[in-house]
Amino acid sequence: MSKKFYITTPIYYVNAHPHIGHAYTTIACDTIARRQRLLGAETFFLTGTDEHGQKIERAALAAGKTPQQYADEISAEFRRLWKRMGISNDDFIRTTEDRHKKRVQELFRRIRDNGFIYKGTYTGQYCVSDELYVDGAQPGDPCPTCGRITETVHEENYFFKLSAFQEKLLELYANPEFIRPESRRNEVISFVRSGLRDLSISRSTFTWGIPVPDDPKHVIYVWLDALANYITAIGYGSSHAAAQEAFKKFWPADVQMIGKEIVRFHCVYWPAFLMAAGLPVPKAIVAHGWLLFEESKMSKSRGNIVRTETILDVLGADALRYFLLREVVFGQDGSFSFDALVQRYNSDLANGLGNLASRTLTMINRYFKGEVPYPSHTAARKPADDAIAEIARKTIREFGTLFDQFQFSRALESAWSLVAAVDKYIVENEPWALGEKQDEDSRSRLATVLYTAAEALRIATALAHPVIPEATAKIWVQMGLGDIKQLALTDLAWGQFQLGTKLGDVQPVFPRADKSAIERMQKMEDERKSSPAAATQASATVDVSAPPAATSTPAVTHANAAPANNKISIDDFSKVELRVGVVKVAERVPKSDKLLRLEVDIGTEVRQVLAGIAEAYAPETLVGRKVVIVANLAPRKLRGLESNGMIVAASLEDGKPVLASFLEDVPAGARLK
Ligand code: MSP
Repeated sequence: MSKKFYITTPIYYVNAHPHIGHAYTTIACDTIARRQRLLGAETFFLTGTDEHGQKIERAALAAGKTPQQYADEISAEFRRLWKRMGISNDDFIRTTEDRHKKRVQELFRRIRDNGFIYKGTYTGQYCVSDELYVDGAQPGDPCPTCGRITETVHEENYFFKLSAFQEKLLELYANPEFIRPESRRNEVISFVRSGLRDLSISRSTFTWGIPVPDDPKHVIYVWLDALANYITAIGYGSSHAAAQEAFKKFWPADVQMIGKEIVRFHCVYWPAFLMAAGLPVPKAIVAHGWLLFEESKMSKSRGNIVRTETILDVLGADALRYFLLREVVFGQDGSFSFDALVQRYNSDLANGLGNLASRTLTMINRYFKGEVPYPSHTAARKPADDAIAEIARKTIREFGTLFDQFQFSRALESAWSLVAAVDKYIVENEPWALGEKQDEDSRSRLATVLYTAAEALRIATALAHPVIPEATAKIWVQMGLGDIKQLALTDLAWGQFQLGTKLGDVQPVFPRADKSAIERMQKMEDERKSSPAAATQASATVDVSAPPAATSTPAVTHANAAPANNKISIDDFSKVELRVGVVKVAERVPKSDKLLRLEVDIGTEVRQVLAGIAEAYAPETLVGRKVVIVANLAPRKLRGLESNGMIVAASLEDGKPVLASFLEDVPAGARLK
């Protein structure tokens, strides 16, 4: 019977478009899943989208859509992107699917029937952005995870007896394999040791969620709903025999990969829910670090995301996959930059593996009519040939061990040291010079050198396949080896390249990227950030530290896209996203007479905005005040602080700004049209 392997990504919230942070986790899981398949395991790889909860409901409202419409659109974007990238997921679960909803209700019932759910009242702080209850926080306190202001919640709720699982969880963590890396495990252990409070697992003040069975006034807490995807997708709670079989076969998961910010949900709540339902816990939760861009975590609210499509358009999926796994030390934060991406691409892919493939295969074509030659075992053999074979054997062992410990960058480093060793070997043995000679010894030596190079290329290609599947599949065909998916990685060993194998057509797989690749990608991202409005693009260049013009003039008046008569169309206007915001925090920016730093709640998130209004408004008069903000302005930095939007004000003749405001009560997030 073959081994099974079940791996999951987190399911991504649909309030943000996919970016390379999401791609990072998905790529890491895809790579592991591909390797497992080559190792012969019956593999199931799951990803999906998390579509319920207050955050999504508010985001939909702000976009003028129903939550379902909104979720449909963004979930489809994720699916399209994964497809375009060749992600090999076996299923894609959406939490708004019927199969999921029914099975989550089944899980809720089971936990309730087992006596771990009771009704009570919750009064406390809640972070809508993280969908997280913040214990011990006071009204107005920020969320410890994201820093946004928490909201006070007072509700009758269902509670989960999390406190009953403290000891069992600590016993679970005694297994060092359960939470990886070690640093995360230690954090979780100290969190659980400090005591666990029961967890509210329903909400009754909004409706965008799965109704609690037998009490539909409540919806199930979005994290219980979301975490359950890992079992509902493979058939938990289904009445169909085939689904039950699948669940039995694949659960518990072998690897559940997450980003470090959701460790508590996965390492504390999730196993406790499973234990309460009498189900096995996953074998391993593996947390990676964050992908940083311009020194902070790439995220929608910071406005510093990089789209995956930009990289796919210019360099292709393999380039991104290789870069992320080679450059970022798995488990730690890693920086992304276009410069570093192109540099890695050129050094390791274009000049490294790509060049090794084309020079080796081209020479076999030229000197041996495209057939893999016989290596000499006698006279024409040199110690350098055996040294390469030895490095290759060591690489096979090392790569597997490192990769299976999630040390992708070291595994790739090891595989590329084989590539570098063969490059050096080729240079030192000068097959092109041997190729000019016709004597028997030279022919025999040439055959040995090219066989050695081709065999090392075959091994490096096989090992790298899960990481760079597209290019390696092409090299495999060029080597005359057919479909790389048929490869049995467990049997990979030196000396298996069949003599006389007929090569396929040789084509370069990684064309060199020049400097313009960086510029093109940067330009594509800049254009995206300033779109859709040419109007907002123009206004983004206005200096908000110089009032009144910047803060007091609506963005559209700066539009250089306006027609000659200075009128704009309604379409132009609608490109400017004006929204109502509530000032949560206001303070002076040190060493600036004019600038205030504001934190403005715009319904879906709290934004930091810098406004040049300090001469007209004392910061303490602004807290709680409703303002109008241009919400889709490209972010910019002023005095080292990022401003994400612009406050709208009238500009009086003396230059004094007067904030736009409303006579009627308006909710945060409402759009001005
Ligand atoms: N919906 C929850 C997860 C529920 S799982 C039962 C959620 N969604 S999310 O859209 O915010 O996605 C978070 C995950 O996306 C992270 O845990 C990580 O896997 C990935 N990443 C998103 N941004 C990232 C970076 N900037 N860097 C690295 N990973 C990132 O939380």
